[in-house]
Amino acid sequence: KRPAGAPDPGLARDVTKVGVVGAGLMASQMALLFARRLEVPVVLTDLDQERVDKGVAYVRAQIDKLVSKGRLDAGKAAKLRGLVSGSVDKSVFADADFVIEAVFEELGVKKQVWAEIEKIVSPECVLATNTSSLSVTAQAADLEHPERVVGFHFFNPVAVMPLVEIIRAERTGDAALATAFEVGKKLKKSCVLVKDAPAFVVNRVLMRFMGEIFATVDAGTPPAVADGALDPLGLPMRPLALTQLVGPGVAYHVGSILHDAFPDRFPASENVKLIAESGLPLLVDDELNPEVAAILRQGE
Ligand code: 3HC
Repeated sequence: KRPAGAPDPGLARDVTKVGVVGAGLMASQMALLFARRLEVPVVLTDLDQERVDKGVAYVRAQIDKLVSKGRLDAGKAAKLRGLVSGSVDKSVFADADFVIEAVFEELGVKKQVWAEIEKIVSPECVLATNTSSLSVTAQAADLEHPERVVGFHFFNPVAVMPLVEIIRAERTGDAALATAFEVGKKLKKSCVLVKDAPAFVVNRVLMRFMGEIFATVDAGTPPAVADGALDPLGLPMRPLALTQLVGPGVAYHVGSILHDAFPDRFPASENVKLIAESGLPLLVDDELNPEVAAILRQGE
């Protein structure tokens, strides 16, 4: 069944090569998934060779894990290893049909990436952003072919979470949108079309919930108490573990975008800011890191 709002799949372009901009954790997880499900070459790029090598090494290690779990036979693993490569030179995207970015969450950085990539790829190449909260319309605003820009938002961990939010920006064309839906189908994800609004749907709802947890901590509830309070609901992860999974910096960033857009509904949390700025791991042995506990402000 065609997902609500998805264009005619006949408009989708063939994807024979994928480019991934960024070689961080999210980008590397995406690269593995694209290679595994689309069975096409996938090339990762980043600012320096060290980051690229780290990304490719992550993919290789995950392939080894799949083999050791019996999820992938040796022949398919060898083929998969051959499909994923890395380069610091974005000209490797010249023959890509689908380029997805997972770079730093700042509009200026994303726009710069797209401006650079637009000069390299064909006008038909779909440009997909995995942004967690930034406007897709704004990312495409200065491009020559904004009609091929679409939002393609994964959830962490990419291999496991079933959903992808597909975002139609103001000028996204049907061909790009149809391609995104067809790619999502091949990735075996459930794709939903969402509006280009701050943090889209899932992160907006999630941040409302997470924001309230942190508001109780800000107001003086001990973090461990706030963290465990929802256990009876059977959530797959406690709030602090989830914050650690997405990254405190990302959580703070998404929260800030929502605070700017809807200040009454998304109050700023001083503690989330402190945690993000500290760069410290939030959890140690599944408990709140004592160094983080020491910097939290409560009930002031
Ligand atoms: N990478 C790859 N695979 C992973 C993984 C990771 N980081 N974490 C877990 N997995 C795999 C495991 O290998 C395992 O696979 P297997 O069945 O082949 O062995 C499978 O997931 C289940 O893992 P576990 O049995 O170890 O653990 P759980 O049953 O506890 O599930 C979980 C782990 C799926 C992460 C679960 O805790 C969960 O669903 N948590 C909530 C995650 C969530 O809400 N994510 C969304 C965050 S918001 C976001 O990402 C948006 C962004 O814009 C900020």
